[in-house]
Amino acid sequence: MFITFEGGEGTGKSTQAKLLHDFFVEDGFDVVLTREPGGTPLAEEIRKVLLTGEPGKMDAMTEALMYLTARADHWARKIKPALDAGKIVICDRFHDSSLVYQGICKGVDIGLLNVIYNGITHGQVPDRTYLIDLASEIGITRSLSRENSETRFEKMNLEFHEKVRNAFLELAHQYPDRYLILDGTLSVREIQKKIEEDARKFV
Ligand code: TYD
Repeated sequence: MFITFEGGEGTGKSTQAKLLHDFFVEDGFDVVLTREPGGTPLAEEIRKVLLTGEPGKMDAMTEALMYLTARADHWARKIKPALDAGKIVICDRFHDSSLVYQGICKGVDIGLLNVIYNGITHGQVPDRTYLIDLASEIGITRSLSRENSETRFEKMNLEFHEKVRNAFLELAHQYPDRYLILDGTLSVREIQKKIEEDARKFV
């Protein structure tokens, strides 16, 4: 079982990913909670390069390839071995973030992103993706209020983040069987309950 969380900045993905992890652990499952960019030592190093500094420090293609490089290591060394061992893997962001940010919003060819992705995973995709949907103004305000230096993306303008939001919704409608959209204005507890009810059906 491979589960991913997607959405804009400050939507509460990481909180919900952790809660779902704890829920499965309590039920006795072997669960790996991980994140992108990151998840392995090399991918965490790449994360630092990607998420710090000025918004314009690299062009979209360079950025896309760096996310995919991090993903290749993460997949080969962590996700795939865990799935093969029968574990549940929960990942905070995954390839759909590349399709949305680098592809739809920054214009990198989606076909190219998917060709590389399929080369990495041999076409394996998440079984379930939870999209926490929230108006960008709310998400960005929440995100910038955190004490954190990884703010390169938060610094982009609101129009960009609104585009991100719409692009995720578009993807979710493109893959209705894989996606569940959650209303990010609900309380943490309410969202958690909806996700747990849904996830239970898959295990
Ligand atoms: P992170 O701090 O994890 O953001 P959040 O807490 O909002 O999830 O930073 C991840 C950033 O990287 C986020 O702005 C989205 C971006 N990103 C991409 O642009 N492409 C990708 O493929 C991934 C995985 C993330």
